[in-house]
Amino acid sequence: MAPTSPTRFLTGITTTGTPHLGNYVGAIRPAVEASRRAGIQNFYFLADYHALIKCDEPARIQRSTLEIAACWLAAGLDPEHVFFYRQSDIPEITELTWLLTCVTGKGLLNRAHAYKASVDKNVAAGNDPDADVTAGLFMYPVLMAADILMFKAHKIPVGRDQVQHIEMARDMAQSFNHLYGEHFVLPEAAVDDSVAMLPGLDGRKMSKSYDNIIPLFAPPAQIRKQIAGIVTDSRAPGEPKPVEGSALFQIYQAFASPEETQQLRQAYADGIAWGEAKQLLFERIDREVAPMRERHDALISNPQQLEKILRGGADKARAIATPFMAQLREAVGLRNLGAQAASAGKSKAAKAALPSFKQYREADGRHYFKLVDAAGRLLAQSTGFASPQEAGRAVAQLKQGGLAGLEESLQLAEGVSRADLGAALAALTEA
Ligand code: TRP
Repeated sequence: MAPTSPTRFLTGITTTGTPHLGNYVGAIRPAVEASRRAGIQNFYFLADYHALIKCDEPARIQRSTLEIAACWLAAGLDPEHVFFYRQSDIPEITELTWLLTCVTGKGLLNRAHAYKASVDKNVAAGNDPDADVTAGLFMYPVLMAADILMFKAHKIPVGRDQVQHIEMARDMAQSFNHLYGEHFVLPEAAVDDSVAMLPGLDGRKMSKSYDNIIPLFAPPAQIRKQIAGIVTDSRAPGEPKPVEGSALFQIYQAFASPEETQQLRQAYADGIAWGEAKQLLFERIDREVAPMRERHDALISNPQQLEKILRGGADKARAIATPFMAQLREAVGLRNLGAQAASAGKSKAAKAALPSFKQYREADGRHYFKLVDAAGRLLAQSTGFASPQEAGRAVAQLKQGGLAGLEESLQLAEGVSRADLGAALAALTEA
């Protein structure tokens, strides 16, 4: 067997808007920290094709791409060490989007939360269900699946709202693999509930759509002014203040060490004045942001350098994407007519005569597979595995004819003997 490749993490950042403190605490800082871990490969890209779905202002797309690229680099992402690129520099991604489109049920996309929310809103307003819904919005999950599957990413760090998209990418990978052979890795969402949700100026989650954000790299005077505007209560200086429900306290905590946090907690109990607490918060944020701001501003004023870094990242990414896309074209039959017919990839008919493995996830969160014969009859069923990789390894071992060590994890279907199973596996190994 080929040596196992390092685990690949992949994250896309949509290029609309200006990075704010919530993005920094919730996504950028943890991602940059993770990028320094040994033994993994990281892919970070600017999802500017996705941005077009939400934004039709060219200048904003360009500006936001510049700001977000500068922001990630300023926060410490090392483009030498990770794959850092712009989605639209990889034409293979749109090409793969089409191949996936052709194996994706329209019904699957009908069920996407974002699309359904738009439809529900239209219906509630008495409009045509698809009023103002572009095909781009409808296709959003397919483009996202292409981002992920192109680089055989295993883990996709996302917020809860994106989990459905990762499951759809798995579905598309499975459909494609089933039809054309095992080309894609089945990705998994990695949701980290330990990262803090940062409240905004009004105490609700900091988000552009609530208009309650503090931009990460605004001039210090502006940040100070915005911090002054964070909602507090009317408790007077000297009055003890509760930390529960205090947006100011929560933001402080997201930047401070446990000791510093403890000190502010004490200061609250001792009746610190709101103005003074806001000053502490400003200083604490500025201590972390000031050095990054310098790097950020230098990059923003040198867009050619940023462009060069992104082009370098695209070269690195395309070194993977271009040969993989050639393999996928071959697999689906987009072939050089001069070359001899079909070696790679078996026809649907040839495959249909063989037993096959189906991998899936159950409501218990565990990963299973089953082996079915050509007619779809169940031959054997696995017990649950902790990860799709573990289930995949067991499948790979079985395909190579090895039942040894797997007896415990495999249950024969009724009326199926070990010999039947052996014969089915042998047919697969030979194929
Ligand atoms: N949809 C993601 C978001 O809104 C952005 C994104 C695009 C993405 N392609 C991706 C995230 C691939 C992870 C993997 O946050």
